[in-house]
Amino acid sequence: MLSLKGKDILHGNQFSKREIEEIMKAAAYLEKEMKRKDSLNLLKGKILATLFFEPSTRTRLSFETAMQRLGGGVISMASPESSSAAKGETVADTARTVSQYADVIVIRHPRIGSAKEAADAAPIPVINAGDGAGQHPTQALLDIFTIRRELGSLKNLAVSMVGDLKNGRTVHALVELLSLFQARLYFVSPLELRMPEAITFSLKQKGIEIEETEDLPKAASKSDLIYMTRIQKERFEDLSGYERVKGHYVIDENFIAGLKNKIIIMHPLPRVDEISQKVDDYPGAAYFRQVRNGVYVRMALLAMLLGKRV
Ligand code: CP
Repeated sequence: MLSLKGKDILHGNQFSKREIEEIMKAAAYLEKEMKRKDSLNLLKGKILATLFFEPSTRTRLSFETAMQRLGGGVISMASPESSSAAKGETVADTARTVSQYADVIVIRHPRIGSAKEAADAAPIPVINAGDGAGQHPTQALLDIFTIRRELGSLKNLAVSMVGDLKNGRTVHALVELLSLFQARLYFVSPLELRMPEAITFSLKQKGIEIEETEDLPKAASKSDLIYMTRIQKERFEDLSGYERVKGHYVIDENFIAGLKNKIIIMHPLPRVDEISQKVDDYPGAAYFRQVRNGVYVRMALLAMLLGKRV
């Protein structure tokens, strides 16, 4: 059994296939336990600190749910305005301070590299819950859990990633994990929102088959899974740039009716207009099941980082 005890979770590229298998196994076990009981005592007496310098619904609340379901406690900074960050305190000083109170930190911040700064300063595990347009590794883990649950296997996958691939930290992290399973990847985006070259270069170096295209129906016809993403309005310096690309790809009932192959639709959420609510009843629409899976995967991670065998 591998140990994640005391480790930081910062980047999708840090995991081995074996570590992913162990996290998935632990998450599946905890899911089963949660069907029998409302909560466990595994992390009784431990404290999670959530430090969110950017808005969040799912990531913060699912981590807090996960800790409470494991019997632990939570302290939370839900926005920078309510903390001494508003007075100019650095991320490093904040993390070092909070590590005097808590056993594990989850941090989201608008700047790439900020979670690493927190991890370097804090003597306790730090989990990157999104650093700007950088990485969101725990989302990638829950995505992998969901893909396996929905499709039964991670072998021979063909995945279309759609939307804002330039700024989308969820896809930046997920490709790292999918590359371990030799998935075929279709990157579907407007030209100005293409996947960063550093990422496509690294995937090619690993021998991963990738195709960049603007044609969603064609990519979808060859895929097992569409991973839809929101255009990240908050990352545009100039709003006219956002207006040019918003609404570029929309999955609606007509798109679903035109599908020739059985396909799963995932989205890290929140959505704006890229998936119509009319698609929510399509059996392959997995995005709310994906949300629920996030709790089990985050329970598994918290337990493992704090040295519990699951
Ligand atoms: N998927 C995700 O990161 O959602 P939140 O921004 O609501 O946390």
